[in-house]
Amino acid sequence: MHNITLSSQQILSYLDLSYNPDELFNLARECRRHYSGRDVYLRGLIELTNICEKDCYYCGIRQSNFDLNRYQIEESELFQCIEQADRYKFGSLVIQTGEQQSERFTDLVEGILLYIQKKYPHIAVTLSCGEQSYDIYQRWFKAGATRYLLRIETSNENLFSIIHPNNAQHSFKTRLECLRYLRDIGYQVGSGVMIGIPGQTPELLMHDLLFLKEIDIDMCGMGPYIEHDSTPLYEEVTHEHLIQRANLTLRMIALLRVVMKDINIAATTALETIDSQMRFQAFDIGANVVMPNLTPAYYREDYNLYNGKQSLVGSGQEICSRLNLGLDKYDLTLALDEKGTSKHFFNRHKEALC
Ligand code: 5AD
Repeated sequence: MHNITLSSQQILSYLDLSYNPDELFNLARECRRHYSGRDVYLRGLIELTNICEKDCYYCGIRQSNFDLNRYQIEESELFQCIEQADRYKFGSLVIQTGEQQSERFTDLVEGILLYIQKKYPHIAVTLSCGEQSYDIYQRWFKAGATRYLLRIETSNENLFSIIHPNNAQHSFKTRLECLRYLRDIGYQVGSGVMIGIPGQTPELLMHDLLFLKEIDIDMCGMGPYIEHDSTPLYEEVTHEHLIQRANLTLRMIALLRVVMKDINIAATTALETIDSQMRFQAFDIGANVVMPNLTPAYYREDYNLYNGKQSLVGSGQEICSRLNLGLDKYDLTLALDEKGTSKHFFNRHKEALC
């Protein structure tokens, strides 16, 4: 199992949609089964606030988009979301926000973490709150966050500079530095990319895979790029149709599973938005994490990162039974009451102890 590798040529072939992916999918399925068995880990997603200081050209909640209401979930509603996650045995939560850098915001997140740590110590918390200073990442770690998601979006500095404003607030180097901080502090570190960005080539996608391996991530969330019509990037034409981007995403997930066998890989909402059944295919060929959205329904349309963003709706119980129905066809099942810690994180700590 350890020895299965892919050459650059093989990776590039599989990133060509006219090339048959069956062999890749078989390999990836084997790796997935070996490391995660039948399990799909649950993360309850809470989109705490869509207030964002950044202005990324592709993102619907960018600061310059005035076509939406800005919100922050009320404390009592937040507590209900967390309670729901606990009641339905989601072993972990993801708290995601637009990026804000302020003392008020740092305190807000810290307070929530302390609350969860005290009341629900059996629930693992992942943060996804963008770029922050080393000290703030450390404060949040001390308050109980053990995992952090910070996507690189693309590992190619030139493409990164095309899809972000050209200023110090949107810097590739800062993003890399933040990923290093998170790793140094001791978080399980997650990153990922968008697939099918205008100007992205198969070579750049291969570079993304090698980059994720090189920085030795523990978790990955990557999904298709989907246009949002109130963003500057909307005007740029991508070379792929949505369904092709979704198919490419499946291949990227399978490739990453073979390249980094023991990490956690999420089947993302963007993939599900293009084709709801593809989520289950993603689990079959490599993904092992699902993130049902627990954000109260009336806030959701304002966390509109891209056109048509979907999410599983209903109570925790309804979500679980619908997921289990789809998973059953692939002989997979939701792992309840499990933190679902990345095996890669365990393994690299074991190695460090040797
Ligand atoms: N299409 C797909 N994914 C997007 N994101 C933001 N905008 C889009 C889009 N238009 C993703 C980014 C970001 C995450 C929160 O949402 O990868 O890191």
